[in-house]
Amino acid sequence: MPTPSHTHDVLIIGSGAAGMTLALKLSPDYRIAVLSKASASEGSTYYAQGGVAAVLDQYDSVDSHIEDTLAAGAGLCHRDVVRFTVERSKEIISWLIDTGVNFDKEVQPNGSEEYHLTREGGHSHRRVIHAADATGREISMTLNEKVSQRPNVDIFERYAAVDLITLDKVGLNGNSCIGAYILNLASNRVELFRARFIVLATGGASKVYLYTSNPDTASGDGIAMAWRAGCRVGNMEFNQFHPTCLYHPDAGTFLITEALRGEGARLLLPDGEPFMSQFDSRGELAPRDIVAHAIDHEIKRLGCDCVYLDISHKSAQFIKSHFPTIYTNCLKFGIDITTSPIPVVPAAHYTCGGIVTDIHGATDVPGLYAIGEASFTGLHGANRMASNSLLECMVFAASAAEHITSQPDQSARGIDIPPWDESQVTNSDEDVVISHNWNELRHFMWDYVGIVRTNKRLQRARRRVQLLQQEVTEYYSNYRISNDLLELRNLIVIADLIIQSASRRKESRGLHYTLDYPDLLPQAEDTILIPSRYTG
Ligand code: FAD
Ligand code: SIN
Repeated sequence: MPTPSHTHDVLIIGSGAAGMTLALKLSPDYRIAVLSKASASEGSTYYAQGGVAAVLDQYDSVDSHIEDTLAAGAGLCHRDVVRFTVERSKEIISWLIDTGVNFDKEVQPNGSEEYHLTREGGHSHRRVIHAADATGREISMTLNEKVSQRPNVDIFERYAAVDLITLDKVGLNGNSCIGAYILNLASNRVELFRARFIVLATGGASKVYLYTSNPDTASGDGIAMAWRAGCRVGNMEFNQFHPTCLYHPDAGTFLITEALRGEGARLLLPDGEPFMSQFDSRGELAPRDIVAHAIDHEIKRLGCDCVYLDISHKSAQFIKSHFPTIYTNCLKFGIDITTSPIPVVPAAHYTCGGIVTDIHGATDVPGLYAIGEASFTGLHGANRMASNSLLECMVFAASAAEHITSQPDQSARGIDIPPWDESQVTNSDEDVVISHNWNELRHFMWDYVGIVRTNKRLQRARRRVQLLQQEVTEYYSNYRISNDLLELRNLIVIADLIIQSASRRKESRGLHYTLDYPDLLPQAEDTILIPSRYTG
């Protein structure tokens, strides 16, 4: 049977806030494919709780949002990119509202209604617009509904991108991206997608760690694919650990939004003692790297399993109306947050680094863009400030749409792309190799490349990654691919990129803390990794 083949103007891989915004921002004249390896709504976007940071309050200012972002980013944010993003925050929120997103409002003393703005770590103003504690669900459902009404957009659910196709991979001159091989997870066949523009909106890579707030989709596929296609990758050592995920044996991972601290929740040791003020004068509202590090320090010092987050001093009515999702979910595990503190631990949450792009999401490979958490734009520096991620997803999706529209008109047809070759592979009879290696990888990344690092731990992790790399490359060449195998192959690339980047940074900055170099170097520099095809 011939390989099924699809041709579009724009192929968007990923259906989160970044991918869906782009699909809506592009002209309806484009034929667009949006792919998701799970259902269209599954991805980090759906689970976002706190909200979107934007300058909306009359007493707030663009400059203040910029300064807070730069301070949280520990000297490594690109000031021009921060300004570019923050200056567009108000406009993108208006667009979301016009598109149908319902953010929470509150009645003012004069009887008028205004959007309620909450506060999170690092922000010196209330500037986080939200839909209770389920902002991502509201954004995701609204954008999905709008995209599904667009006749020019084809949505492919349960289609997992395997690899990008560049001209040199099909024996032609140049490295432009012309399509991708995609595994249809229903039929288990690889299909060919061609397009003039290919956009990676595949989200982050926090699944590389054993404990994470992220859904299973966050396996860094886009970053790994872009790296294999010849893109530079930046600042991968800065994986953000969210300070407060629910600690309960049956809970899986469930985030307890930073907005709880924004509304006054205190972090407590098991004996009920507050501790954050010993670490930072901003206390519970210090940037995330500082709070996560403080919790990790206290857990290790006391040998306890978790610390506690307490908002029970607020009225039950306030808690239930502002945090209905967290209230209901904790209650399922026997924790009534209106009367008791919540057991919490840090977990891997956000990939600050990623595929190097310019201000329009354009990568090093012509025709290939990256937007959202998969990208490295320079906005987040060494530590992303809370609620700046959804903002980045949408601002850069809009910018990529403008850039794509300005490109000359060319057809995606005409180049002969070979079908996916399965002639040399058989069905695996040893899937245990995948599950075993998957667990091993995520365990040692947590133990050796987590919140506190050392040279020795990084070396240990590097040796293990190299072994896994050999084993999985061999497996990949001999057996038919599956989604689990694709994710494992990509996570190994991600682990390698994180370890390489962490090993190069001879200082502690933001989210990268190493006992061997506890101090900050005077000069702040990005860690940019260049794929071997350019280094020989
Ligand atoms: P995602 O929303 O993760 O979407 C990725 C998409 O790519 C999915 O459709 C997935 O199926 C698809 N995909 C991945 N790989 C492949 C492949 N190989 N083939 C095909 N499709 C693929 N940020 C904020 O700003 N504010 C918040 O309040 C906030 N809260 C958060 C709470 C939680 C629990 C989490 C996990 C994150 C939170 N974040 C928050 C971070 C933010 O949600 C994410 O950074 C953002 O949603 C990423 O959006 P995205 O579009 O880049 O990717
Ligand atoms: C949260 O609600 O605490 C998450 C916010 C974010 O990741 O930006």
